[in-house]
Amino acid sequence: MQAKDRIILALDVDTKAQALNLVKELKDQVGAFKVGMQLFNSEGPAIVEEINDLGGQVFVDLKLHDIPNTVGAAGRVLTRLNALMFNLHAAGGREMMRKLAAEVADEANILAISPPLTLAVTVLTSISADDLVNDMLIKDYELTDVVVNWALMAKECNISGVVCSPREIQAIRSACGQDFKIVTPGIRPEWAAKNDQKRITTPSEAVRLGADYIVIGRPITAAENPKAAAIRIIEELEAI
Ligand code: C5P
Repeated sequence: MQAKDRIILALDVDTKAQALNLVKELKDQVGAFKVGMQLFNSEGPAIVEEINDLGGQVFVDLKLHDIPNTVGAAGRVLTRLNALMFNLHAAGGREMMRKLAAEVADEANILAISPPLTLAVTVLTSISADDLVNDMLIKDYELTDVVVNWALMAKECNISGVVCSPREIQAIRSACGQDFKIVTPGIRPEWAAKNDQKRITTPSEAVRLGADYIVIGRPITAAENPKAAAIRIIEELEAI
């Protein structure tokens, strides 16, 4: 994989105009654009097609979590958007993940397209070890054990990979093998502001630890020269 293809730029903006400006400016420096709840709910699914039309690939970050039938149906229609990848919560359980993987495969088959990658979110990085015990009532397990077990469960359900914190990359890579996709946010080059990110890793460190893709937003979008910032990250990745 080329260094540029590992970079997923977070389009954390409200409007199509802002998003498409970033796509036009940066499509040759990044592998994909992440459309999350903010932009998707503001502009609707057509935004994915518009990014594709400009030559960009899309990670649809909606974190599906519902009963298997509902998530399966959502996966079926999301497959029609021609996204590179989209995600769901592993906490929805085995049956939900299996149903989604089957619906995506069937729909891609019908459309004769290559299926989007499906990614499971294990434990959100905003959940602390204390929250796991006190609020979710998951006791007697270390947070990393929960994350790795849910990643393995996702793999068994034919989900393509996970979104995880940089600190979990190595454990997931060694448990789930080389073909399992690992996507990680919380990335900050040494020269960039941390913003509200606390536990951060540099782009090259994340890839060295075993990440396939890194999600980056503000270090590129808020830079004085976004294109130059993206090129600097590509060069850092190429030097690994
Ligand atoms: O601007 P920044 O690089 O912090 O953006 C990171 C992107 O990754 C945002 O869209 C954010 O919602 C997402 N993300 C994250 N940390 C997580 C999960 C997702 O920063 N644990």
